[in-house]
Amino acid sequence: MPHKHLSPKVMRSDAVAFFKKLLGETYVLTGEADLKAWGTDWTKVFEPKPLCVVLPSSTEDVSKILSYCNTNELAVTPSGGRTGLCAGAVASDGEIVVNLTRMSKIMAVDTTGLTLTAEAGVTTQALQDAAKENGLFFPLDLASKGTCQIGGNIATNAGGVKLIKYGGTREQVLGLEVVLASGEILDMNVALRKNNSGYDLKHLFIGSEGTLGIVTKAVLRLMPKPRNLQLAIMAVGDFISIPKILAVCSQKSASVTAFEFFTEVAHKIVLQRLPGARTPFKDISPFYVLLEIEQPGREPELEELLEALFEEGLITDAAIAANSTQFKEFWGLRENITESLAAHGQVRKNDISLAIDKLDGFVKALQVLLLSKRPKDMEIVFFGHIGDGNLHINYVSPKTRDSKDFHAEAREIEEGVFKLLASFKGSISAEHGIGLTKKKDLHFTRTDSEVSWMRMTKKMWDPKGILNPGKIFDL
Ligand code: FAD
Ligand code: MLT
Ligand code: ZN
Repeated sequence: MPHKHLSPKVMRSDAVAFFKKLLGETYVLTGEADLKAWGTDWTKVFEPKPLCVVLPSSTEDVSKILSYCNTNELAVTPSGGRTGLCAGAVASDGEIVVNLTRMSKIMAVDTTGLTLTAEAGVTTQALQDAAKENGLFFPLDLASKGTCQIGGNIATNAGGVKLIKYGGTREQVLGLEVVLASGEILDMNVALRKNNSGYDLKHLFIGSEGTLGIVTKAVLRLMPKPRNLQLAIMAVGDFISIPKILAVCSQKSASVTAFEFFTEVAHKIVLQRLPGARTPFKDISPFYVLLEIEQPGREPELEELLEALFEEGLITDAAIAANSTQFKEFWGLRENITESLAAHGQVRKNDISLAIDKLDGFVKALQVLLLSKRPKDMEIVFFGHIGDGNLHINYVSPKTRDSKDFHAEAREIEEGVFKLLASFKGSISAEHGIGLTKKKDLHFTRTDSEVSWMRMTKKMWDPKGILNPGKIFDL
């Protein structure tokens, strides 16, 4: 079925024949199972119904595909590792899925200029490995790194667990190559650290969720490897202590590289669902904070920091990772929350952000709201990148619960949460994006004027509206 506002000028069979001629039979998928698998992302809320899936191997392929789709008014869904959490890569309306998995070459690592040039289909893990092999460090880090691709990271402006120290994806991108809706290849690939010559157009594409162009190549910033990382997990009695702990850490430690939190419910579910998971704590605690610091100088810095936190009554217990196995175990308690929740029940996700000084007031008001609204069989699980003011709220109900009822109930609570959030001037998406799942809620964060400029921007770069139609907002 063609996308609603487009009127395709070719038959499906002609389009498929064109793509097969261009890419070869193997790289055009039309079977039912393939359409289902490649037409969706991690969300699995919308039924995937792409017209077909195409797997280009070069920028020129992507250019020819888009040029053909633009001429013939065929909707396109750009697609990477399909780990997205807001249905941005979902093709539920007859789109051509253009997936970049075959474009997975790392072209250059410059150990003097500290840059890496890669095709968009390279996984985040492969980028980290390539940096490491060259004695360097690529700081974008997220639990989906084995599968998500740098093109997807750029399109979502992914955040992850090291943003507090190194910034998110936007901060790592020095240059971009993008194919526009018309098929034009826009080369913004100059890898200069300083370049004030007019508008920096690449930033428009970062976080644009595949609606303005297909990212085909990127030049990324590398940095020296962090030295002597130390990790502690802390038990915390009340939420108000968490921003205070952050303040103490920022004042006393030169280099906080991660500051993550999760609640007891999240902790319990990971221990239940993750084979081999272990906690260092005997007693349960309402909140846990994972603190990673780089400690290149004085050895006892982390111990001193924890002592100060105990003395100020901000933490009730703590454990320092004594070796690499414990390091992995502690990180595992945080990084496996998403997969453990998915195994545990049906999940609906919010990914919100607030200014750090507003967190406590917001969470207090949120708890009052949840107390009155939460159905008995629904667990509300908080975790996230709290050092960045980014809170993940997950509504979790048993898998036996009727899915429609579950989403309707969670939606009612969610609307209350978003209204509250707007009164605190927060954002409904800190890092996952808007996609299909949150477009009706964009107004909670963006003004009418902002959305109207977004629409005009979209119309300028993609006048026929072929790129990821229906994502972020409707035209
Ligand atoms: P996809 O899901 O394939 O696509 C995402 C969006 O990008 C879609 O709108 C798609 O159209 C577009 N797109 C994909 N490739 C291109 C391209 N080459 N050009 C233009 N547009 C493109 N996210 C975070 O920010 N922080 C986290 O800590 C985090 N942790 C996660 C942990 C787990 C276990 C999972 C499952 C997800 C997590 N995510 C996280 C979400 C997800 O991994 C990120 O959004 C990631 O950046 C998506 O990359 P992808 O390649 O999988 O993109
Ligand atoms: C995370 O921080 O683990 C991710 O953003 C995934 C999620 O929110 O489930
Ligand atoms: Zn996250």
